Amino acid sequence: MHKTGIFYSFNSTKTAKAAEKIVQEFGPDYNIIPVNAEELTEELFLSFTNLILGVPTWFDGELPNYWDEFVPALEDLDLKGKKIAIYGLGNQVEYPENFGDAVGIMAELVQERGAKLYGQTSLEGYSYESSRAEQDGKFLGLLLDQETQPRLSKERIANWVSDLKKQFD
Ligand SMILES: Cc1cc2nc3c(=O)[nH]c(=O)nc-3n(C[C@H](O)[C@H](O)[C@H](O)COP(=O)(O)O)c2cc1C
Repeated sequence: MHKTGIFYSFNSTKTAKAAEKIVQEFGPDYNIIPVNAEELTEELFLSFTNLILGVPTWFDGELPNYWDEFVPALEDLDLKGKKIAIYGLGNQVEYPENFGDAVGIMAELVQERGAKLYGQTSLEGYSYESSRAEQDGKFLGLLLDQETQPRLSKERIANWVSDLKKQFD
């Protein structure tokens, strides 16, 4: 598999825990390199062929600050040839109108710049009103809700990583 990075805030709580579980699920045969999304540069971002982005939703349907600060740089990048998969933490009970929106925001940003998106998932098992992460009957990435469905995360991560192992090369 090409060089693969997993980008998330090392200071986040649930997103960082999920990143550790994703890396564990890939196993030792895969060299998945953790990158702190709070210290991102364009060079670092472009140095990977496969990218996994950890993007929790904050502020009623927005990106957290550290991702938002990288958006102007991201908007100038050519991401053709990049394979990108996005996972995001959210809370479907407290924020049913914006569940996991940040996953959709990031998916749109990277696809507009030529990246190919991987790791879309089924809507089954979630309950919410609207989500920017939803498109054509699927989520654009992996949605994890550690606050209201913590027991479902393990299997969701396992299924997602199993898909990515087939899709990334
Ligand atoms: C102020 C605030 C706003 C939030 N807004 C949303 C939201 O719009 N949609 C959503 O799905 N979750 C929302 N959440 C829930 C977070 O995404 C959830 O707590 C997540 O686990 C945070 O992950 P992190 O601790 O790794 O950043 C919000 C949480 C807080 C504290």
